[in-house]
Amino acid sequence: MKILHVVGARPNFVKVASILKACDRESGIESVLVHTGQHYSDNMSNTFFDELDIPMPDINLEVGSGSHAQQTGEIMKRFEPVLLQNSPDAVLVVGDVNSTLACALVAVKLGFKTIHVEAGLRSFDRTMPEEINRVLTDSICDFLFVTEPDGLTNLKSEGINTSKIYFVGNVMIDTLKLHKTKAACSNILNDLDLAVGSYGVVTLHRPSNVDNYKVFGRIIDALAEIQKDIKVIFPMHPRTYNNIKSNGLGVRLEQLPNILTIKPLGYIDFLKLMSEAKIVLTDSGGIQEETTILGVPCLTLRDNTERPITITKGTNMLVGTDTERILNGYHQSLSKAKPIVEPDFWDGRASVRVVRILLDLL
Ligand code: UD1
Repeated sequence: MKILHVVGARPNFVKVASILKACDRESGIESVLVHTGQHYSDNMSNTFFDELDIPMPDINLEVGSGSHAQQTGEIMKRFEPVLLQNSPDAVLVVGDVNSTLACALVAVKLGFKTIHVEAGLRSFDRTMPEEINRVLTDSICDFLFVTEPDGLTNLKSEGINTSKIYFVGNVMIDTLKLHKTKAACSNILNDLDLAVGSYGVVTLHRPSNVDNYKVFGRIIDALAEIQKDIKVIFPMHPRTYNNIKSNGLGVRLEQLPNILTIKPLGYIDFLKLMSEAKIVLTDSGGIQEETTILGVPCLTLRDNTERPITITKGTNMLVGTDTERILNGYHQSLSKAKPIVEPDFWDGRASVRVVRILLDLL
Protein backbone atom coordinates (compact mmCIF):
# COMPACT_ATOMS: atom_id res chain seq x y z
CA MET A 1 0.00 0.00 0.00
CA LYS A 2 1.37 3.37 -1.00
CA ILE A 3 0.46 6.43 1.08
CA LEU A 4 1.40 9.92 0.00
CA HIS A 5 1.85 12.17 3.06
CA VAL A 6 1.61 15.94 2.73
CA VAL A 7 3.43 18.43 4.95
CA GLY A 8 3.81 22.18 4.53
CA ALA A 9 4.11 24.11 7.76
CA ARG A 10 5.84 23.68 11.10
CA PRO A 11 3.04 21.95 13.04
CA ASN A 12 2.59 19.44 10.20
CA PHE A 13 6.14 18.15 10.63
CA VAL A 14 5.51 17.29 14.28
CA LYS A 15 2.36 15.33 13.40
CA VAL A 16 3.70 13.47 10.39
CA ALA A 17 6.88 12.42 12.23
CA SER A 18 5.04 9.81 14.28
CA ILE A 19 2.67 8.76 11.47
CA LEU A 20 5.66 8.02 9.21
CA LYS A 21 7.31 6.00 11.98
CA ALA A 22 4.14 3.97 12.49
CA CYS A 23 3.89 3.36 8.73
CA ASP A 24 7.52 2.25 8.64
CA ARG A 25 6.90 -0.31 11.34
CA GLU A 26 4.11 -1.97 9.32
CA SER A 27 5.38 -4.10 6.52
CA GLY A 28 3.73 -3.49 3.18
CA ILE A 29 3.32 0.27 3.51
CA GLU A 30 5.30 2.51 1.22
CA SER A 31 5.37 6.18 2.23
CA VAL A 32 5.96 9.07 -0.14
CA LEU A 33 6.55 12.43 1.53
CA VAL A 34 5.61 15.66 -0.24
CA HIS A 35 6.64 19.01 1.30
CA THR A 36 4.73 21.92 -0.20
CA GLY A 37 7.42 24.39 0.90
CA GLN A 38 4.87 26.62 2.71
CA HIS A 39 7.50 26.86 5.45
CA TYR A 40 11.02 26.93 4.09
CA SER A 41 13.37 28.69 6.55
CA ASP A 42 15.88 26.44 8.31
CA ASN A 43 14.37 27.11 11.74
CA MET A 44 10.77 26.67 10.54
CA SER A 45 11.39 23.53 8.49
CA ASN A 46 14.78 21.78 8.10
CA THR A 47 15.52 21.65 11.83
CA PHE A 48 12.35 19.63 12.39
CA PHE A 49 13.31 17.04 9.81
CA ASP A 50 16.70 16.57 11.50
CA GLU A 51 15.46 16.50 15.09
CA LEU A 52 12.36 14.38 14.54
CA ASP A 53 14.18 12.02 12.25
CA ILE A 54 11.80 12.63 9.35
CA PRO A 55 13.19 11.40 6.05
CA MET A 56 13.99 14.09 3.49
CA PRO A 57 10.87 14.83 1.44
CA ASP A 58 10.67 12.87 -1.80
CA ILE A 59 9.31 15.99 -3.48
CA ASN A 60 9.43 19.65 -2.43
CA LEU A 61 6.95 21.89 -4.25
CA GLU A 62 8.80 25.01 -3.03
CA VAL A 63 5.77 27.28 -3.03
CA GLY A 64 7.01 29.64 -0.31
CA SER A 65 5.01 32.55 1.10
CA GLY A 66 2.20 34.53 -0.48
CA SER A 67 -1.39 35.58 0.00
CA HIS A 68 -3.82 32.80 0.87
CA ALA A 69 -5.09 32.63 -2.71
CA GLN A 70 -1.58 32.64 -4.19
CA GLN A 71 -0.25 30.06 -1.76
CA THR A 72 -3.26 27.72 -1.96
CA GLY A 73 -3.49 28.03 -5.75
CA GLU A 74 0.22 27.50 -6.28
CA ILE A 75 0.24 24.40 -4.06
CA MET A 76 -2.69 22.96 -6.01
CA LYS A 77 -1.05 23.62 -9.38
CA ARG A 78 2.24 22.06 -8.34
CA PHE A 79 0.73 19.15 -6.41
CA GLU A 80 -1.53 17.85 -9.18
CA PRO A 81 1.19 16.48 -11.53
CA VAL A 82 3.12 15.04 -8.56
CA LEU A 83 0.05 13.18 -7.39
CA LEU A 84 -0.75 11.84 -10.83
CA GLN A 85 2.82 10.69 -11.30
CA ASN A 86 2.97 8.91 -7.92
CA SER A 87 -0.53 7.48 -8.04
CA PRO A 88 -0.76 6.41 -4.36
CA ASP A 89 -3.51 4.31 -2.79
CA ALA A 90 -4.30 7.20 -0.47
CA VAL A 91 -3.28 10.77 0.32
CA LEU A 92 -2.87 11.73 3.98
CA VAL A 93 -3.11 15.34 5.13
CA VAL A 94 -2.74 16.64 8.68
CA GLY A 95 -3.85 19.73 10.60
CA ASP A 96 -5.41 22.88 9.25
CA VAL A 97 -2.87 24.86 7.27
CA ASN A 98 -3.23 26.04 3.67
CA SER A 99 -1.20 23.04 2.45
CA THR A 100 -3.74 20.71 4.11
CA LEU A 101 -6.75 22.07 2.24
CA ALA A 102 -4.94 22.65 -1.06
CA CYS A 103 -3.67 19.07 -1.35
CA ALA A 104 -6.91 17.49 -0.07
CA LEU A 105 -8.86 19.37 -2.72
CA VAL A 106 -6.55 18.24 -5.51
CA ALA A 107 -6.55 14.63 -4.31
CA VAL A 108 -10.32 14.32 -3.87
CA LYS A 109 -11.04 15.87 -7.26
CA LEU A 110 -8.73 13.35 -8.90
CA GLY A 111 -10.57 10.53 -7.14
CA PHE A 112 -7.82 9.53 -4.67
CA LYS A 113 -8.86 8.26 -1.24
CA THR A 114 -8.03 11.12 1.10
CA ILE A 115 -7.39 10.94 4.84
CA HIS A 116 -7.49 13.84 7.29
CA VAL A 117 -5.66 13.39 10.57
CA GLU A 118 -6.75 15.90 13.27
CA ALA A 119 -10.25 16.26 11.85
CA GLY A 120 -13.29 17.74 13.55
CA LEU A 121 -11.68 20.55 15.55
CA ARG A 122 -13.80 23.71 15.42
CA SER A 123 -13.26 27.17 16.88
CA PHE A 124 -16.56 28.31 15.31
CA ASP A 125 -14.68 31.43 14.30
CA ARG A 126 -14.77 31.78 10.54
CA THR A 127 -12.41 34.76 10.59
CA MET A 128 -9.59 32.29 11.31
CA PRO A 129 -8.02 31.00 8.09
CA GLU A 130 -7.48 27.64 9.80
CA GLU A 131 -11.20 27.26 10.57
CA ILE A 132 -12.05 27.57 6.87
CA ASN A 133 -9.33 25.02 6.08
CA ARG A 134 -10.72 22.61 8.72
CA VAL A 135 -14.36 22.80 7.67
CA LEU A 136 -13.59 22.41 3.98
CA THR A 137 -11.02 19.64 4.40
CA ASP A 138 -13.34 17.61 6.62
CA SER A 139 -16.25 18.02 4.24
CA ILE A 140 -14.37 16.43 1.31
CA CYS A 141 -12.10 13.75 2.85
CA ASP A 142 -12.95 10.04 2.87
CA PHE A 143 -11.53 9.13 6.29
CA LEU A 144 -11.47 11.45 9.28
CA PHE A 145 -9.30 10.77 12.33
CA VAL A 146 -10.19 12.82 15.39
CA THR A 147 -8.15 13.72 18.46
CA GLU A 148 -10.87 14.41 21.03
CA PRO A 149 -14.57 13.53 21.48
CA ASP A 150 -15.68 17.07 20.55
CA GLY A 151 -14.31 16.35 17.10
CA LEU A 152 -16.86 13.56 16.69
CA THR A 153 -19.70 15.77 17.86
CA ASN A 154 -18.72 18.60 15.52
CA LEU A 155 -18.46 16.35 12.47
CA LYS A 156 -21.80 14.67 13.22
CA SER A 157 -23.51 18.02 13.59
CA GLU A 158 -22.18 19.01 10.16
CA GLY A 159 -23.96 15.98 8.75
CA ILE A 160 -20.81 13.95 8.07
CA ASN A 161 -21.46 10.22 7.90
CA THR A 162 -20.18 8.62 11.12
CA SER A 163 -18.82 5.63 9.21
CA LYS A 164 -15.98 7.89 7.98
CA ILE A 165 -14.96 9.05 11.46
CA TYR A 166 -12.43 7.38 13.79
CA PHE A 167 -11.46 8.59 17.26
CA VAL A 168 -7.76 7.72 17.49
CA GLY A 169 -6.20 10.32 19.79
CA ASN A 170 -3.46 12.83 19.19
CA VAL A 171 -0.50 12.08 16.91
CA MET A 172 1.29 15.25 18.02
CA ILE A 173 1.34 13.89 21.56
CA ASP A 174 2.89 10.66 20.20
CA THR A 175 5.80 12.77 18.97
CA LEU A 176 6.04 14.62 22.28
CA LYS A 177 6.17 11.41 24.29
CA LEU A 178 8.75 9.93 21.97
CA HIS A 179 11.09 12.91 22.34
CA LYS A 180 10.64 13.84 25.99
CA THR A 181 13.75 12.03 27.17
CA LYS A 182 15.90 13.58 24.47
CA ALA A 183 14.45 17.01 25.28
CA ALA A 184 15.36 16.55 28.95
CA CYS A 185 19.03 16.68 27.86
CA SER A 186 18.67 19.94 25.92
CA ASN A 187 21.00 22.73 27.02
CA ILE A 188 18.57 25.53 26.32
CA LEU A 189 18.04 26.48 29.97
CA ASN A 190 21.78 26.89 30.48
CA ASP A 191 22.14 28.72 27.19
CA LEU A 192 19.49 31.25 28.22
CA ASP A 193 20.58 31.31 31.87
CA LEU A 194 17.21 30.13 33.19
CA ALA A 195 16.32 28.21 36.35
CA VAL A 196 13.70 25.47 36.21
CA GLY A 197 10.18 26.78 36.87
CA SER A 198 11.23 30.42 37.09
CA TYR A 199 10.22 31.89 33.73
CA GLY A 200 7.40 32.31 31.24
CA VAL A 201 7.35 31.42 27.53
CA VAL A 202 5.38 33.41 24.96
CA THR A 203 4.53 32.46 21.38
CA LEU A 204 2.34 34.52 19.09
CA HIS A 205 1.70 34.22 15.38
CA ARG A 206 -2.07 34.42 14.70
CA PRO A 207 -2.81 37.19 12.19
CA SER A 208 -5.67 38.39 14.46
CA ASN A 209 -3.09 39.06 17.21
CA VAL A 210 0.12 40.06 15.48
CA ASP A 211 -1.15 41.78 12.33
CA ASN A 212 -3.29 44.13 14.42
CA TYR A 213 -1.27 46.91 16.08
CA LYS A 214 -3.84 47.62 18.80
CA VAL A 215 -4.34 43.98 19.78
CA PHE A 216 -0.61 43.27 19.76
CA GLY A 217 -0.06 46.44 21.81
CA ARG A 218 -2.54 45.26 24.48
CA ILE A 219 -0.74 41.91 24.70
CA ILE A 220 2.62 43.67 25.09
CA ASP A 221 1.10 45.82 27.87
CA ALA A 222 0.29 42.59 29.73
CA LEU A 223 3.75 41.15 29.06
CA ALA A 224 5.27 44.40 30.37
CA GLU A 225 3.62 43.70 33.73
CA ILE A 226 4.39 39.97 33.79
CA GLN A 227 8.11 40.57 33.08
CA LYS A 228 8.29 42.55 36.33
CA ASP A 229 7.53 39.27 38.06
CA ILE A 230 9.28 36.61 35.96
CA LYS A 231 11.67 36.47 33.04
CA VAL A 232 9.78 36.03 29.75
CA ILE A 233 11.24 34.17 26.77
CA PHE A 234 9.65 35.01 23.42
CA PRO A 235 10.76 32.77 20.52
CA MET A 236 9.46 34.82 17.64
CA HIS A 237 7.67 33.48 14.58
CA PRO A 238 8.79 35.20 11.33
CA ARG A 239 5.33 36.75 10.79
CA THR A 240 5.52 38.33 14.26
CA TYR A 241 9.11 39.45 13.75
CA ASN A 242 8.31 41.08 10.41
CA ASN A 243 5.40 42.92 12.01
CA ILE A 244 7.25 44.31 15.02
CA LYS A 245 10.04 45.54 12.76
CA SER A 246 7.63 47.56 10.66
CA ASN A 247 5.11 48.78 13.26
CA GLY A 248 7.37 50.08 16.03
CA LEU A 249 6.33 47.52 18.64
CA GLY A 250 9.83 46.03 18.44
CA VAL A 251 11.27 49.17 20.06
CA ARG A 252 8.71 48.84 22.87
CA LEU A 253 9.67 45.19 23.44
CA GLU A 254 13.38 46.05 23.51
CA GLN A 255 12.72 48.49 26.35
CA LEU A 256 11.35 45.71 28.57
CA PRO A 257 14.46 44.41 30.36
CA ASN A 258 13.10 41.04 31.43
CA ILE A 259 11.71 39.95 28.03
CA LEU A 260 14.12 38.05 25.84
CA THR A 261 13.09 37.74 22.19
CA ILE A 262 14.86 34.95 20.34
CA LYS A 263 14.59 33.23 16.96
CA PRO A 264 12.15 30.29 16.61
CA LEU A 265 13.61 27.25 18.40
CA GLY A 266 13.87 23.70 17.14
CA TYR A 267 11.53 21.01 18.50
CA ILE A 268 13.82 19.59 21.19
CA ASP A 269 14.89 22.92 22.72
CA PHE A 270 11.36 24.26 22.62
CA LEU A 271 9.98 21.15 24.29
CA LYS A 272 12.51 21.52 27.09
CA LEU A 273 11.83 25.26 27.43
CA MET A 274 8.07 24.63 27.62
CA SER A 275 8.36 21.64 30.00
CA GLU A 276 10.26 23.61 32.64
CA ALA A 277 8.34 26.89 32.34
CA LYS A 278 6.29 28.38 35.15
CA ILE A 279 3.66 29.41 32.60
CA VAL A 280 3.16 29.55 28.83
CA LEU A 281 1.25 32.30 27.02
CA THR A 282 0.33 31.45 23.44
CA ASP A 283 -2.06 31.68 20.54
CA SER A 284 -0.93 28.35 19.07
CA GLY A 285 -3.29 25.38 18.92
CA GLY A 286 -0.63 22.71 19.32
CA ILE A 287 0.95 24.34 22.37
CA GLN A 288 -2.41 24.23 24.19
CA GLU A 289 -2.30 20.45 23.75
CA GLU A 290 1.37 20.04 24.61
CA THR A 291 1.10 22.06 27.85
CA THR A 292 -1.91 19.95 28.82
CA ILE A 293 0.20 16.80 28.70
CA LEU A 294 3.19 18.49 30.33
CA GLY A 295 1.03 19.90 33.14
CA VAL A 296 2.31 23.43 32.58
CA PRO A 297 -0.23 26.28 33.03
CA CYS A 298 -1.20 27.74 29.65
CA LEU A 299 -2.92 31.04 28.94
CA THR A 300 -4.40 31.13 25.46
CA LEU A 301 -4.46 34.66 24.08
CA ARG A 302 -7.58 34.10 22.00
CA ASP A 303 -11.33 34.30 22.59
CA ASN A 304 -11.96 30.72 21.46
CA THR A 305 -10.24 27.41 21.06
CA GLU A 306 -10.87 24.52 18.68
CA ARG A 307 -9.33 22.28 21.35
CA PRO A 308 -11.78 22.53 24.30
CA ILE A 309 -10.44 19.39 25.96
CA THR A 310 -7.32 21.37 26.90
CA ILE A 311 -9.59 23.46 29.14
CA THR A 312 -11.88 20.76 30.53
CA LYS A 313 -9.10 18.24 31.21
CA GLY A 314 -5.91 20.21 30.73
CA THR A 315 -4.11 23.27 32.01
CA ASN A 316 -5.42 25.73 29.44
CA MET A 317 -7.31 28.94 30.21
CA LEU A 318 -8.77 31.26 27.55
CA VAL A 319 -7.89 34.85 28.38
CA GLY A 320 -8.43 36.73 25.11
CA THR A 321 -6.30 39.77 24.34
CA ASP A 322 -7.46 42.33 26.87
CA THR A 323 -4.56 43.42 29.12
CA GLU A 324 -6.48 43.11 32.40
CA ARG A 325 -7.95 39.72 31.49
CA ILE A 326 -4.51 38.35 30.62
CA LEU A 327 -3.11 39.60 33.93
CA ASN A 328 -6.05 38.16 35.90
CA GLY A 329 -5.55 34.83 34.14
CA TYR A 330 -1.85 34.97 34.94
CA HIS A 331 -2.42 35.43 38.67
CA GLN A 332 -5.29 32.95 38.78
CA SER A 333 -3.49 30.13 37.01
CA LEU A 334 -0.40 30.50 39.19
CA SER A 335 -2.41 30.57 42.39
CA LYS A 336 -3.90 27.10 42.00
CA ALA A 337 -2.25 24.29 40.04
CA LYS A 338 -4.64 22.18 37.98
CA PRO A 339 -4.11 18.41 38.21
CA ILE A 340 -3.16 16.71 34.93
CA VAL A 341 -5.83 14.46 33.45
CA GLU A 342 -4.55 12.80 30.30
CA PRO A 343 -7.27 12.97 27.62
CA ASP A 344 -8.36 9.59 26.25
CA PHE A 345 -6.02 8.17 23.62
CA TRP A 346 -3.35 10.86 24.16
CA ASP A 347 -1.21 7.92 25.14
CA GLY A 348 1.52 7.94 22.51
CA ARG A 349 -0.21 5.33 20.32
CA ALA A 350 -2.50 7.42 18.12
CA SER A 351 -0.36 6.99 14.99
CA VAL A 352 -0.35 3.23 15.41
CA ARG A 353 -4.17 3.33 15.59
CA VAL A 354 -4.31 5.44 12.42
CA VAL A 355 -2.12 3.03 10.52
CA ARG A 356 -3.91 -0.13 11.73
CA ILE A 357 -7.27 1.35 10.68
CA LEU A 358 -5.87 2.34 7.29
CA LEU A 359 -4.52 -1.15 6.71
CA ASP A 360 -8.02 -2.48 7.40
CA LEU A 361 -9.80 0.06 5.27
CA LEU A 362 -7.54 0.14 2.25
C1 UD1 B 1 0.93 28.93 9.12
C2 UD1 B 1 -0.48 28.35 9.26
C3 UD1 B 1 -0.90 28.34 10.73
C4 UD1 B 1 0.13 27.63 11.58
C5 UD1 B 1 1.48 28.30 11.36
C6 UD1 B 1 2.58 27.65 12.18
C7 UD1 B 1 -2.02 28.73 7.38
C8 UD1 B 1 -3.20 29.51 6.95
N1 UD1 B 1 -1.46 29.15 8.54
O1 UD1 B 1 0.86 30.30 9.52
O2 UD1 B 1 -2.13 27.66 10.85
O3 UD1 B 1 -0.25 27.70 12.92
O4 UD1 B 1 1.81 28.20 9.96
O5 UD1 B 1 3.73 28.41 12.09
O6 UD1 B 1 -1.62 27.82 6.72
N2 UD1 B 1 7.86 32.87 6.89
C9 UD1 B 1 9.23 32.78 6.92
N3 UD1 B 1 9.78 31.55 6.80
C10 UD1 B 1 9.03 30.43 6.69
C11 UD1 B 1 7.64 30.55 6.66
C12 UD1 B 1 7.07 31.78 6.76
O7 UD1 B 1 9.94 33.77 7.02
O8 UD1 B 1 9.62 29.33 6.60
C13 UD1 B 1 7.24 34.21 7.05
C14 UD1 B 1 6.91 34.87 5.74
O9 UD1 B 1 7.10 36.22 5.87
C15 UD1 B 1 5.43 34.59 5.59
C16 UD1 B 1 4.95 34.60 7.05
O10 UD1 B 1 6.04 34.07 7.78
O11 UD1 B 1 4.78 35.51 4.79
C17 UD1 B 1 3.72 33.79 7.31
O12 UD1 B 1 3.88 32.45 6.83
P1 UD1 B 1 2.60 31.60 6.32
O13 UD1 B 1 2.99 30.26 5.92
O14 UD1 B 1 1.83 32.42 5.34
O15 UD1 B 1 1.67 31.53 7.58
P2 UD1 B 1 2.00 31.32 9.12
O16 UD1 B 1 1.71 32.61 9.79
O17 UD1 B 1 3.34 30.70 9.35
